[in-house]
Amino acid sequence: MASSNNPAKPVHILFVGAGAVGCFYASRLHHPSQNVYASLIARSNYKAIIAAGGKVELQTHSFGNYTFAPYAVFPNIDAAVPSASSSSSGPEAAVGGEKSAGTGTPPSEGWDYIIVTTKALPDRTDDAAMVAPLVSEKSCLVLIQNGVGVEAPYRARFPRNPIVSAVTVISAEQIRNGVVRQNRWTRISLGPYGHGLGAPPGVGDQAGEEPVARLGDERMRALARWWTALGGIRDVETHSELELQTIRWHKLCINAAFNPTAVLSGGRGNADQLTDPELREHVLGIMHEIRDAAPLVLGKPLPDTLASPEKIVKSTERNTGGRPSMLLDWEAGRPMEIEVILGNPVRIARAKGVQMPRLQSLYACLRSMQRMREEREEREKGKGKL
Ligand SMILES: NC(=O)c1ccc[n+]([C@@H]2O[C@H](COP(=O)([O-])OP(=O)(O)OC[C@H]3O[C@@H](n4cnc5c(N)ncnc54)[C@H](OP(=O)(O)O)[C@@H]3O)[C@@H](O)[C@H]2O)c1
Repeated sequence: MASSNNPAKPVHILFVGAGAVGCFYASRLHHPSQNVYASLIARSNYKAIIAAGGKVELQTHSFGNYTFAPYAVFPNIDAAVPSASSSSSGPEAAVGGEKSAGTGTPPSEGWDYIIVTTKALPDRTDDAAMVAPLVSEKSCLVLIQNGVGVEAPYRARFPRNPIVSAVTVISAEQIRNGVVRQNRWTRISLGPYGHGLGAPPGVGDQAGEEPVARLGDERMRALARWWTALGGIRDVETHSELELQTIRWHKLCINAAFNPTAVLSGGRGNADQLTDPELREHVLGIMHEIRDAAPLVLGKPLPDTLASPEKIVKSTERNTGGRPSMLLDWEAGRPMEIEVILGNPVRIARAKGVQMPRLQSLYACLRSMQRMREEREEREKGKGKL
């Protein structure tokens, strides 16, 4: 019999971005026996996943080691677009591992949830435009990404679809293609996203229509139940829109302080930064700048329950050896999440008449470093062709 944890009809959930976060949270949702199916869009790791029989290997601190066989794995967005010719989307296609993932087909009724777990790089790709062919009337978009302002392009493109914004506190990495390690933590905080705080009702909120934020709230609650009851994650939190945006701004205290500093200090991990008195003062200065700006942006003081800069620093000191993802991206020559972690907060605050000079300096320097390196690489490529 159907219950809130066991929907009557199959629920199809597509993760766009089969990296560390995507594979971990997909593996905790996929429960064919309960009618909840997770699928993945992979990219550079597609061949490895298919070679492993359509399975991803998970090495987790919280749930032990296991393999996860999604309902389907796709090599790109186009392959995951539902069409009238899509074949079975019912339970029989997935139960018992009969189907071979990678040959899976999109559900003909469309995707119920599209969960974006790519790195947020709005200066490189318009991910809202990229996922558009996947989105139908019934699709709820979920964004599990760091930074602030990540939802706006999705709301602009999909005025009537529910959107759920998500912040995760996890330490996970893809150690090789198709193998994901979760080192610690599982927390995921969810909140509906309407039209942005303080924005007037939008296109999706006309008379006679269900407000998109309310739709987002319902869809968020179902997702939270499945992650908790089926996936066994103990710290799935549901919030209001304002609460979730507060959590996003508060998480910047970690991401906007340690990540850029790791790159600009010549490659020092979070705890290591704190052993240098000047860097420690700089890191605390950034955190306090965010703490001071956030209430003015959000229109509400930050609750005392959120850790103070001094408390964050204390707990970071114990976590030795950690190297932030922005540093790993920089060292690997990949683009960094500069816009959502630095550029968006600076611009959002500025639009409210609030200056964030420390963040602005970090933003200007890192953006320039990245551009100079790319221009140098372009020149070297050009020389190679001569
Ligand atoms: N990992 C953590 O511990 C952690 C913790 C908290 C928050 N976060 C945040 O969570 C988000 C995801 O991070 P992550 O660590 O999971 O990143 P990740 O391991 O790099 O995973 C991102 C995945 O997205 C894929 N991708 C990007 N564009 C794609 C496209 N057009 N089509 C198909 N796949 C695409 C990438 O494929 P390629 O490999 O081919 O590029 C990669 O597999 C980020 O915003 C990050 O800041 C991460």
